[in-house]
Amino acid sequence: MKRILLLTFACLCLAAPGISSADTPAKPTAEDFGKTADGTPVELYTLKSSKGLVAKIMTRGATLVQLHVPDSDGKSADVIFGFDDVAGYESEDNQYFGCTTGRVCNRIAKGKFSLDGKDYTLAINNEPNHLHGGVERSLDKVVWKAKPFANEKGTGVTFSYTSPDGEEGYPGNLDVTVRFFVPTDANRVSITYTAKTDKATPVNLTNHAYFNLGGAGSETVLNHKLMLNAPQYTPVDDTLIPTGEIKDVEGTVLDFRKPTRIGKGIEELTDTAALGYDHNFVLAEIPEGKSMRMAARLVDPDSGRTLTISTDQPGIQFYSGNFLMGQTGKDGKTYPHRSAVCLETQHYPDSINQPKFPSTVLKPGEEFKSTTVLNFGN
Ligand code: BGC
Repeated sequence: MKRILLLTFACLCLAAPGISSADTPAKPTAEDFGKTADGTPVELYTLKSSKGLVAKIMTRGATLVQLHVPDSDGKSADVIFGFDDVAGYESEDNQYFGCTTGRVCNRIAKGKFSLDGKDYTLAINNEPNHLHGGVERSLDKVVWKAKPFANEKGTGVTFSYTSPDGEEGYPGNLDVTVRFFVPTDANRVSITYTAKTDKATPVNLTNHAYFNLGGAGSETVLNHKLMLNAPQYTPVDDTLIPTGEIKDVEGTVLDFRKPTRIGKGIEELTDTAALGYDHNFVLAEIPEGKSMRMAARLVDPDSGRTLTISTDQPGIQFYSGNFLMGQTGKDGKTYPHRSAVCLETQHYPDSINQPKFPSTVLKPGEEFKSTTVLNFGN
């Protein structure tokens, strides 16, 4: 009898959430994060390292909601923008904070493209262009399915969503997954995307976190130092669509090959359509034998926090929060003009209409796979 009881107890322990073997951390569990306006429940998952990083990710838009990292004194701050509830994310104040962006992030000129002899028309939501996958059913606005996991290295959640053929005007049923993983022994978030389709379709996926390493809600990001591993950039017209040229950053305020204060040259860009930095940088080649390379390094001299981003993607959109409008976010904090940066690893904007850019076309039978790693230090 005693034996049976012990056995039952052992089985219950293994099955119970939050209890795990000595080597493997507990599998993350779902927390209730409220409901969307149409009544769909939204879940929130927490991933933690033993070095102080805490990431919270919700199923609406596979969105990074909170990201806490320690400074050089061990003091933690949430370094990304967001809202306290789903209603905040559904409001006009949300400028893609922390979300997975797609099916095609960034701009498509005039919302038009042709593929396999067919013309496609997408929503114009950033006059006169299409931006970040559309209006109602872009990847940031739908509720994804979550599958949490744990292994001996850390914990993660894989979000999945099938975007039906024709959703937001894009061809093909698209199966997308985004896997967030936090290793136990480092302050790191790895984001891996996969996509499969049954019709040729453009795909360009990124995460749209807004970072201020002094803590979200700090007044400005202009004193952060940025380094971009990018010798070139793609010049744009006055609607922020690439002209097709690829130019050297040398001798321009886009030269971030050495760590440079973001505020140093930004005023030269104030009179452009971007109102500051909002440019796609062409990243240096991936060294042979490597799967990715360092793309960007952001340093906040005040807190000492650093963020190093590595990716296998060919480009990075550096956006200096020029369209932020002082909206109120988490904990009543406000997000003024230029108080955060987005460093969006991706293919170049409007690639589907630019034959000389690396292709964003995914074909049936192929798998799109890409990884970006956010590495925090202090
Ligand atoms: C774009 C900006 C845009 C912002 C918010 C960035 O990825 O480059 O132009 O304002 O997203 O939508």
